[in-house]
Amino acid sequence: MTIDGLSRRDLLAKCAALGSLTFASSLLFADVLEAWEEREKSRKPTPWNEVGPVYKRNAPHTTHLRAPGDPGLPVTVSGQILDTRGNALPGASVEIWHADHHGRYDIDGYRYRTSLVAADGGKYMFDSVMPGHYPSRVCQHIHYLVAAPGHKPLTTQLYFADDPYDATDHWFSFDRCIQFQYTDKAKTNGRFDFVLERSP
Ligand SMILES: [Fe+2]
Repeated sequence: MTIDGLSRRDLLAKCAALGSLTFASSLLFADVLEAWEEREKSRKPTPWNEVGPVYKRNAPHTTHLRAPGDPGLPVTVSGQILDTRGNALPGASVEIWHADHHGRYDIDGYRYRTSLVAADGGKYMFDSVMPGHYPSRVCQHIHYLVAAPGHKPLTTQLYFADDPYDATDHWFSFDRCIQFQYTDKAKTNGRFDFVLERSP
C-alpha cells in the first residue's frame, strides 16, 4: 500500500470519502497512519564533506571551547544526532574542530577542538567563537566527525548562511548551514541536527 503524496489531511479526507468501503477495520486504518507517520519522520542523511588536513585525534572532552577574553563573536551551537527515521542516537560521539577568530587552526595544541558524547535525546552542545576566514578556504566553517554504533561515521563541515564568502567556496552548501537565531544582529544560539545512515 502506498501513501505517497498524501498528507494526513488528504489521507483522512480520502478515508472519510470512501467510508462506504469500510476501509477499515480500525487495525488497517491504524497501519496506514503508522506508515504515514514513519514516512513523515524519515530524514535525509547529512551529506559528507572533506575531513581536511588539520584533524587531530584525542581532543579534550569540553563543551567550552571559548576561553574568557578570546577575540571573536561568541556562539553556542547545539543539536541532535538522529537516524534516518528521526530517532535520537544517545551515546553518539561528536568531534568538532575549527579555526580561531583569525582563521588559524591550533596545530600544536587543542584550542577550538573537542570530543563530545551525545546526551539523552542524542543532544550535543558547545560554546565557542565564530571561526575566521583563512586564505585557502574563504568560507567560515566548522568541522565535524560524528559516529554512533551501528551507523556509518560521518565527516562533514557546517557553514553560515550569512557569510559573504559562501558563494566563492566550492564546498559551501545551504543544506549544511547552522541555523542561528539573531538578537540585535548578533548570532546567539545556532542549531544543526545530524542524520546518520545505518551501517550495511
Ligand atoms: Fe577547515
